[in-house]
Amino acid sequence: MKKKKVGFTSSIGFILAAAGSAIGLGNLWAFPYKTAVNGGAAFVFVYIACVLLIGFVTMLSEIHIGKRAHANPITAYKMVNKNLGWFGLIAILIPFFITCYYSVLGGYTIKYTLHSFRGNSGILSTFSVNSGEVTLYSGVFILLAILIIMCGVKEGIEKISKTLMPTLFLILVGIVIYSLTLGEGVKEGLAFYLNPDFKSLGLSGVLGAMGQAFFSLSLGMGIMITYGSYTGGEINIVKSTAMICLFDTLVALLAGLAIFPAVAHFDPDLLQSSQGIALIFAILPDVFKSMGFAGNIVSFLFFAMVAIAALTSVMSLIEVVTQFIIQKFKITRKISALIVALICFAVSIPVGISLGKVAIAEGEGPTLFGLDWLTFFDEVTNTVLMPVGALLACISVGWIIQPKKAIQEMEEHGTRKKIHPVLAAIYSVMVRYITPALIIIIEVFGIKSKFDAKQEAVVYCAYGLIVLCVLIYFIFFRHTQTGCNDDEILIEQRKKEKKASTVEP
Ligand code: PHE
Repeated sequence: MKKKKVGFTSSIGFILAAAGSAIGLGNLWAFPYKTAVNGGAAFVFVYIACVLLIGFVTMLSEIHIGKRAHANPITAYKMVNKNLGWFGLIAILIPFFITCYYSVLGGYTIKYTLHSFRGNSGILSTFSVNSGEVTLYSGVFILLAILIIMCGVKEGIEKISKTLMPTLFLILVGIVIYSLTLGEGVKEGLAFYLNPDFKSLGLSGVLGAMGQAFFSLSLGMGIMITYGSYTGGEINIVKSTAMICLFDTLVALLAGLAIFPAVAHFDPDLLQSSQGIALIFAILPDVFKSMGFAGNIVSFLFFAMVAIAALTSVMSLIEVVTQFIIQKFKITRKISALIVALICFAVSIPVGISLGKVAIAEGEGPTLFGLDWLTFFDEVTNTVLMPVGALLACISVGWIIQPKKAIQEMEEHGTRKKIHPVLAAIYSVMVRYITPALIIIIEVFGIKSKFDAKQEAVVYCAYGLIVLCVLIYFIFFRHTQTGCNDDEILIEQRKKEKKASTVEP
């Protein structure tokens, strides 16, 4: 009999779930406008280099760290070295913070999807300050995510990703075709998006591309470790990593092709202001309005696509924390997911209020160190903590496990055939020297930018959290069991036995 295990059943299931995590608001929203304002094709060029030099190497390392342990990030790093388990605690903490703000934006996408037929043009200023409604939609969004997670990795995350990711792709390709065949304005839209301009790229554009690659590929936190831990020997992680990076980049590029030609065709005046939160929540709704009735349908499809992308991303974020709670505290998946959801939902409330009242309406509302809550969480995680998380993953493979051993392990358990020696040599040099060096550059410039903007509180908070993780790990977790994936099966078995014994007389 085949041994029961928690995890993905096929390569494609794993690839689509991981791509589901990677493909999100970062691809459909941030990438297009960042490209447009940072030098078009010049930005794309640097971005692709970042995906190859930093993204692929870090992702493969993270997936491998998870796969060799079949356990949550803390246990996985403990298996690298017992004193390094705190790397894993950081990797769990980052997804928690991101969930708290990502859910608010996810809630926006649900509202906009459902409201498409009544028109979303101009609703941003009223919807975003309606705290009750914003909270409600964030709650619905989190609820959807945990309902899927509660069904398990195989029956929930894998199954849903296999349906939703192809759906997303079809919708996107459909919108791209529609947009590119609009005729007038298409050329201008494409020029606005992609015209190469190395001057406006500059250093900030290069750093922006690096940061964007991290965020978009869901790196530098526990996600790829957790999803990697659910892969068995039949899944080739090198090929899978390449596919995930490819899909993620493709979707990002296509998103711009879907957006800018349509903006230029229907409302060329709006092109220059197509940035930040306004792009999808204010500008595009105006563009859909100018399309007439067809606009309602395009709007529905567009926002449904964005909602799907956000949902599969938030699922992965919540799964990291849920997996840890299941394994550390030996409680069932359903209860663990519920606990995580409730805490994230509670924190998302002030985030939502702050986003609407402070960031969008520019009025009074809750702030943290002078920033709206969303920006604050985003900066702490993206600018400071994610590069640290990625660096720790590369150091673990490059300097502690050692690339030679890691490659051997991958060949034994993760590729079923020899990795080409040239590829292995490139990976070894990258993971030891080049990728960590590039990550350190991103970190240093990220910190500098916070000091320059007088937002040093972001840096202090992020590093304060790291110190806290170290302390918590050494006080509470180093000497205690932190569990593994098999625990989940035991918990379920025990639950069944208990049920059976209470039914029997
Ligand atoms: N990668 C997702 C995106 O592009 C966001 C995300 C970041 C999801 C980190 C999970 C973890 O939007």
